[in-house]
Amino acid sequence: MTPEQLRNLVRSVPDFPVPGVLFRDITTLISHAEGLRAAVGHLVDRARASGAQAIAGMEARGFIFGAAVAIELGVGFIPVRKPGKLPVPTVGIDYQLEYGSDRLEVDPTAILPGQKVAIVDDLIATGGTALAAAELLRKVGGVVDQALFVIDLPDLGGAERLRSANVGVDALMS
Ligand code: PRP
Ligand code: HPA
Repeated sequence: MTPEQLRNLVRSVPDFPVPGVLFRDITTLISHAEGLRAAVGHLVDRARASGAQAIAGMEARGFIFGAAVAIELGVGFIPVRKPGKLPVPTVGIDYQLEYGSDRLEVDPTAILPGQKVAIVDDLIATGGTALAAAELLRKVGGVVDQALFVIDLPDLGGAERLRSANVGVDALMS
């Protein structure tokens, strides 16, 4: 599958979730067998090159790609969850959204001290989610120097924000 074919599998939906936003939707990519396999394969190549010893993915769409990458790579998957979902004591981080704030939580025992963890998500927009995940994983002892995405929305500056925090960023398409 060519990069152009992969790109064409992402659906663009105008005015979602609010008027004026062109929403890039991966539903059409992940429901396409070849597209899903190609996207995961490219992410695996990049994760392997980064020397990742574990993959962390953010709820919910990051679970789809992150778990698949972890399985292919033969490493564990660390779920970075929305608040109140984990049944054990968690470490969390609050972060700002355009309007209001949100929170991510992780089970600190899921990460070994010094373990090299690559972040995987479907998309980076402002980078707020990925930056919070990187800070959280570092807080619990992970070494986070790489984040991988299917889609980067460069106009929103997320990749630059992550690089400023010493997290390398790679995406399959912009
Ligand atoms: C989306 C997407 C990223 C994040 C990107 O998730 O999957 O995690 O937003 O935006 P940012 O770079 O501006 O932080 P969302 O919070 O919509 O949750 P979902 O995966 O449950 O749909
Ligand atoms: N698509 C999916 N998720 C998003 C987008 C988008 O265009 N913008 C911010 N989060």
